[in-house]
Amino acid sequence: MNLVVLGATGGTGLEVVRQALQRGHSVTTLVRSPHRLKPFGGQITVKQGDLLSSADLKPVIQGHDAVVSAFGPRLPVSRRGRPSPSTIRRSADERHGEDQCPG
Ligand SMILES: NC(=O)c1ccc[n+]([C@@H]2O[C@H](COP(=O)([O-])OP(=O)(O)OC[C@H]3O[C@@H](n4cnc5c(N)ncnc54)[C@H](OP(=O)(O)O)[C@@H]3O)[C@@H](O)[C@H]2O)c1
Repeated sequence: MNLVVLGATGGTGLEVVRQALQRGHSVTTLVRSPHRLKPFGGQITVKQGDLLSSADLKPVIQGHDAVVSAFGPRLPVSRRGRPSPSTIRRSADERHGEDQCPG
């Protein structure tokens, strides 16, 4: 599958990326600090951005089969600013024009 992993530089996200690659999945990430994923070399696609920004998030999700979120706010994030699973799903659906994200 073509996966997007959010929060890929965190403890959970790094493990998700490792296991996804072991299983032969293609991985794209959206991270604030791309240098932290250097150990994966050219095995993954790394996009730089803020996942709280729709402008950053939407183009990254486009064309992928599933989004795995290991997002964890380092600082408290207001409910208004934090993307819920349904928000991420809607972003993907808008791009695909159909329901392709597992709920
Ligand atoms: N660890 C556990 O045992 C555990 C157990 C159950 C549930 N969870 C849940 O799993 C999630 C992740 O946990 P974790 O321990 O892996 O957290 P973590 O190590 O703090 O990782 C959080 C990740 O989210 C990223 N992030 C935060 N704000 C971002 C933003 N605005 N744009 C882009 N990326 C952003 C961080 O990127 P930066 O590196 O740029 O900050 C980091 O990659 C949390 O929701 C946590 O509640 C964790």
